[in-house]
Amino acid sequence: MNKFLCCTLVLLGISVKWTVQVIPRTYLHYDRMTGRQLTCDECPPATYVKRHCTTSSKTECAPCPDQHYSDDWNSDDECYYCDVVCKELQFVVVECSNTTNRYCECIEGRYLDLEFCARHTVCPPGFGVVQQGTPERDTVCQRCPAGYFSSERSSKEACRPHTDCSALNLKMVWKGDATRDNMCRGERNHRSEQQCEIDVTLCEEAFFRFGVPTKLSPNWLETLKDSLPGEKVNAETLESIKQRDSPQEQTFQLLKLWKQQNKDHDMVKNIIQGINHCENTVLKHIGHLNITFEQLNVLMENLPGKKVGKEETEPIVRMCKPTEQIFKLLNLWRVKNRDQDTIKGLMYGLKHLKTYHFPKTTIQGLRKVVKFLHSLHKLYQKLFFEILGNQSHLVKARRG
Ligand SMILES: *[C@@H]1O[C@H](CO)[C@@H](O)[C@H](O)[C@H]1NC(C)=O
Ligand SMILES: *[C@@H]1O[C@H](CO)[C@@H](O)[C@H](O)[C@H]1NC(C)=O
Ligand SMILES: *[C@@H]1O[C@H](CO)[C@@H](O)[C@H](O)[C@H]1NC(C)=O
Repeated sequence: MNKFLCCTLVLLGISVKWTVQVIPRTYLHYDRMTGRQLTCDECPPATYVKRHCTTSSKTECAPCPDQHYSDDWNSDDECYYCDVVCKELQFVVVECSNTTNRYCECIEGRYLDLEFCARHTVCPPGFGVVQQGTPERDTVCQRCPAGYFSSERSSKEACRPHTDCSALNLKMVWKGDATRDNMCRGERNHRSEQQCEIDVTLCEEAFFRFGVPTKLSPNWLETLKDSLPGEKVNAETLESIKQRDSPQEQTFQLLKLWKQQNKDHDMVKNIIQGINHCENTVLKHIGHLNITFEQLNVLMENLPGKKVGKEETEPIVRMCKPTEQIFKLLNLWRVKNRDQDTIKGLMYGLKHLKTYHFPKTTIQGLRKVVKFLHSLHKLYQKLFFEILGNQSHLVKARRG
């Protein structure tokens, strides 16, 4: 197909030349009759000079006879003979015409090596094609450089880069060489999984981080523990929770532990179901956004409180899957700002993002998530206070 295209273009090139040169080219001719040097017009392609011009007549041109051609303006007194005969394993690319000689080419997979159509070299394993063979030229092979491989014999395939297992969050179990690819294990690299582990998700926060009374009763945590249905968190664990910095964080950790211990309790089952549904909704809103490294940094800069710096963003972006990056960063921000609410922090940050020309879809996605989490937060805050509602002194404290 390509061959025909190329030749059609060559022919077109010729026809363009014709139309451009409307004024015929000329040649000098010695006229024996008059003994004078005359300037005669040349004959166009596909013709030859049948009779030179005289003092009284122009050049007379005649078409090339069968199997003859002339490919340019000329002063020749005959056309060229189409002399090419295709060789074995060649086919006619351009047939003899009044403007072209016959043109032959080796068949697919071969090139003209002196008089014969030889097979293109096939690059062995460990070598890749750097230049594919053509009808005129053999294949050029090159040993695969470090980091690349070619496992097959081929006259077309280039060396391919080794699979980057860590970029896929996979573990490399076999290091590749020039002939073999790296082999990755089909499960996530333990280290990166740990790196990207999120201790508290946005949804868990929405469910468990309800407003803690401002005037706390001295044994707030004890009371909360006793109010929760199901198996109670033991005293020793409660003591370790009390070591946590803020009352918010303490409450939060207690609820998380209670949830872990009472997975079969109907109320916990409902909460877990709610959290799963929440996570899916959040992912639906922002999981597909492809937030860039720069955008993540701007977002982090705009959150209140202690900042998550670029140097912290970088390893997270490397280790976490694109969909997890923003969640891990928000989690890190929460760890740094224990008494702050991530959802409120995000809401605050979003107000400033417009000035940074953030993609509209990204802002909209984040805003939807914030709105959604905020509504859940309110709902569950109410629910928990109902559970605790019977603790009259707590209610008083809350209203106080
Ligand atoms: C050259 O060949 C083409 C195609 O056969 C024909 O149309 C054209 O008239 C020929 N030219 C001359 C000058 O004979
Ligand atoms: C995000 O990136 C993935 C993979 O690169 C691509 O398939 C998807 O279309 C991208 N989504 C958007 C919204 O750009
Ligand atoms: C509050 O206590 C009463 C009885 O003491 C009980 O019937 C009710 O279910 C409790 N409310 C909640 C929300 O636990």
